[in-house]
Amino acid sequence: MIKIKTDEQIALMRDSGKITKNVLDLIGREIRAGMTTKDLDKLAYEFITSCGAHPSFLGYSGYPASICASIDDMVVHGIPSDDAVIKEGQIVSIDVGVIYNGWQGDAARTFIIGEVSEEKRKLVKVTEECFFKAIENLRDGTPLGDIGFKVQSHAEANGFSVVRALVGHGIGQEMHEDPSVPNYGKKGTGIRLRKGMAIAIEPMINAGVYQVDFMSDGWGVRTRDRRPSAHYENTIVITDDGVEILTL
Ligand code: MF3
Ligand code: CO
Repeated sequence: MIKIKTDEQIALMRDSGKITKNVLDLIGREIRAGMTTKDLDKLAYEFITSCGAHPSFLGYSGYPASICASIDDMVVHGIPSDDAVIKEGQIVSIDVGVIYNGWQGDAARTFIIGEVSEEKRKLVKVTEECFFKAIENLRDGTPLGDIGFKVQSHAEANGFSVVRALVGHGIGQEMHEDPSVPNYGKKGTGIRLRKGMAIAIEPMINAGVYQVDFMSDGWGVRTRDRRPSAHYENTIVITDDGVEILTL
């Protein structure tokens, strides 16, 4: 069941979205070679709690941290670790979720560490572009399948592939609500998005094959060919004539 949010509820989601964005901005300023992903997790935890908010990932199905930190061939859900030292030449995706006054925000960015390969630079850029292509012309009445179609078209036109095993999602008082929001699909298919629907659109784009492997820690997801992957996510709400991005 898809829950339509009222203007009052959207106002609350705007607040949690803003905190979510601020966590990622903070990490963007602080992230550098030599830090561990655990350092970033601590930074996020301290910041979120200092805002009077709660890190939604912490304890979610037993997840042990406040952020996911996924380096290079890790697609998503990398568990922060003291052993994961960030190095020049890597791309690091940071995913964070926040609950504030009972409402959720969820967003991710992929950060470039120092000088990276041309392939990684392009992958990160195209992954962000996939999100923005997906929200172009998105409004009340747009078929859900148009999102996946646009993400997939742009990724594949650039020689990259779209992860199928994980998808975006509705969001509100729960982190994961209906509908599922795949990053692949056909134009004109699926339910019509309506004003007041809130969704997290999160392209996960691989440099090589789309297939992924699930790690034995129960969380980490890596590309099957171990080539790099990038992730970009925002929480948005559908309006009459477009969308509002709550986490940017
Ligand atoms: N952004 C991710 C998602 O939409 C975050 C989930 S990680 C978890 O599913 F640890 F919270 F599960
Ligand atoms: Co999400």
